[in-house]
Amino acid sequence: MKRVLVTGGAGSIGSYVCEVLIRRGHEVVALDNGPSLKVEHLFDTGRFKFVQDSVLIPEVVERLVDQCDTVIHLAAIADPKRYVNEPLNVLNVNLKGSLYLLDFCARQKKRFVFASTSEVLGKNPNVPWNEEADRLLGPPSINRWCYSTGKALIEHYCYAYGQQEDMPFVIMRFFNVYGPRCDDLGQGRVIPIFLEKLLRGQPLIVHGDGAQTRCFTFIEDATEAVVELALNNAALGLCFNIGSDRETSILELAKAMKKAGGFKNPVEFKPHLEVFGKSYEDIPRRIPDVSRIKQVIGWEATTSLEDGLKKTIDFYRQP
Ligand SMILES: NC(=O)c1ccc[n+]([C@@H]2O[C@H](COP(=O)([O-])OP(=O)(O)OC[C@H]3O[C@@H](n4cnc5c(N)ncnc54)[C@H](O)[C@@H]3O)[C@@H](O)[C@H]2O)c1
Repeated sequence: MKRVLVTGGAGSIGSYVCEVLIRRGHEVVALDNGPSLKVEHLFDTGRFKFVQDSVLIPEVVERLVDQCDTVIHLAAIADPKRYVNEPLNVLNVNLKGSLYLLDFCARQKKRFVFASTSEVLGKNPNVPWNEEADRLLGPPSINRWCYSTGKALIEHYCYAYGQQEDMPFVIMRFFNVYGPRCDDLGQGRVIPIFLEKLLRGQPLIVHGDGAQTRCFTFIEDATEAVVELALNNAALGLCFNIGSDRETSILELAKAMKKAGGFKNPVEFKPHLEVFGKSYEDIPRRIPDVSRIKQVIGWEATTSLEDGLKKTIDFYRQP
């Protein structure tokens, strides 16, 4: 049995990770400054503790790292609108919070499992991206790159602490995770935004011409990858893409969601500039090369987009 600290444990991915770890017999502490809604069903398991506090409080972080074997660090501000409107908060939480955790993990030789993002590669046009692909970013004067840069810097710290302080680490780069319970309707990412419109009978608003693509990864698949990477020694010292390699345009997604739920809503188009202002830049294609994760832990995404969307829509339709 492991004792695992999951920061951001009450978030979309975190709540599933806590659940699977508990199901497999481990002890879990979730540190999250958000509400406990997504993890309340775990309170009675006897092996779960929720600490509602911030990764920005070093004393809290030190105490919790001290009590665990492994840290799965998912806490972050991960909402594209907030990269543009609150760059200072994004940088503070995503950098400073991670640095406290890294520092204590390095001192105590605890395993640090870090949630990075496909966004670190920015607008590199050479898809699919393997984990060693070049990063191609815009200038720091454009706020949207603060998220990507913060995550990449923590990746650098992982390698540096690994090399100079023998800190065991694993880096995970997620590609568009979605699923039941993941997001508040209408918030943050494209699937919950579309779903809210669909359920309210309103038009779906596609940004640009909708030709930009993403690879959507079902939450249950992603969770299996996180838990396996966190516990398997073969993953140590490496970075892994966690994603489906099926490419879907945003317009195709809109159509697939309509079909999965039997919706008839119209689709409308809106220029990016009108939606995000000039500080945002969209990335046309993001596709993971998933050969490394397949080879090292034998994982691949197995849930089809159609099945995943159906499960997600059914969940949000419940009264
Ligand atoms: N979901 C995705 O598609 C995706 C893609 C790429 C990367 N990621 C990364 O994976 C991780 C988890 O993402 P998610 O989708 O579950 O996001 P999420 O927003 O649902 O979860 C993040 C959690 O962190 C918590 N948090 C924020 N600031 C905090 C602080 N100061 N102290 C403690 N907790 C704090 C939030 O309350 C939230 O519960 C994030 O690090 C994100 O950057 C996710």
